[in-house]
Amino acid sequence: MDESISLTMITGSVVQKGSKTNAFTRSPTSAFGSPGSPFAPRFLRPIAMATPATVLVLGATGKTGIPLVEQLLQRGAAVRALVRSPEKLPKPEGQAQLSVTQCSSVLDLTDQELLEQVKGCEAVVSCLSHVGNPWAKPHDLCLSISKRICSAMQQAAQAETTGTRPKYLMMGTVLVPKADGSEKAHGWASTFMVGLLNTLLPPMYDHKLTAAYLNENMSSENPLVDHVVIRPNLLVDKPVSEYQTFDELQTGVFSPQDCSRANVAQFMCDLILKPDLWAQWKGKMPVIIDKVAA
Ligand SMILES: NC(=O)c1ccc[n+]([C@@H]2O[C@H](COP(=O)([O-])OP(=O)(O)OC[C@H]3O[C@@H](n4cnc5c(N)ncnc54)[C@H](OP(=O)(O)O)[C@@H]3O)[C@@H](O)[C@H]2O)c1
Repeated sequence: MDESISLTMITGSVVQKGSKTNAFTRSPTSAFGSPGSPFAPRFLRPIAMATPATVLVLGATGKTGIPLVEQLLQRGAAVRALVRSPEKLPKPEGQAQLSVTQCSSVLDLTDQELLEQVKGCEAVVSCLSHVGNPWAKPHDLCLSISKRICSAMQQAAQAETTGTRPKYLMMGTVLVPKADGSEKAHGWASTFMVGLLNTLLPPMYDHKLTAAYLNENMSSENPLVDHVVIRPNLLVDKPVSEYQTFDELQTGVFSPQDCSRANVAQFMCDLILKPDLWAQWKGKMPVIIDKVAA
């Protein structure tokens, strides 16, 4: 087994909290973790630091998270994936520098466990989504984890002496316009519908509050953590293609344009790995849309 691939359990974290299971559990049937599996950890060890970049991915088993992990690994980054279902990850044969930690929910990790996850990371990416019933709890998945991750990143950055500011990338949506009201409304019907969705659908409200939190609290004046909220248009599963990024919404809710998840993954990789691109978008909410052939 390549020792750079590991499924991590944190020693001593098996704590019963009432009737809940511990935050870190490993399914005995997991493709990564079953006893005798080539991916079963041979020993417990701290997550390895790696160059050129170490990236923690939340929602790594999602439709955008999977291409993101693949592209990061292909481009030489070390990836830490914090997941509920490791078996959903692509088979890691030949993939160096992948560390997988299984949890029952990202929200179940303690502050100390989150700190251990973000330590040494150049970037943390959230591709989290409310899965299934949009009215099911928790309604504040993105906001709650963003606050706690950013707090952990600030704590880790304070302790480090590299002087580099870690990056937090949050996958948002075009259904959340900029809070300052500067974006074009695209007609009263679209504005009305966006307002309605943001009010009625908890995941939309969660995205709205998360963007507002990041923009208010992790602004460029904040000395420790930089952020970008990526706003894809209508997500579709297509291969990488040409795409465009914009500082403002391009269409109303009734005229969505496709955006390949693979393109979102590529844009996020580029943001992490290309300092000039990060400098262009940090603190902003770029809209990403597939380029349509003329
Ligand atoms: N659909 C669209 O057209 C559209 C457009 C713009 C933006 N967006 C936004 O883009 C984001 C990503 O979308 P997607 O389609 O790639 O998402 P997705 O395929 O639904 O993936 C969601 C990921 O979040 C994980 N997750 C959910 N709750 C979790 C928890 N409590 N603890 C740990 N992991 C948890 C899921 O884990 P499991 O695999 O274990 O379930 C999965 O890996 C979402 O925020 C979505 O709102 C969507």
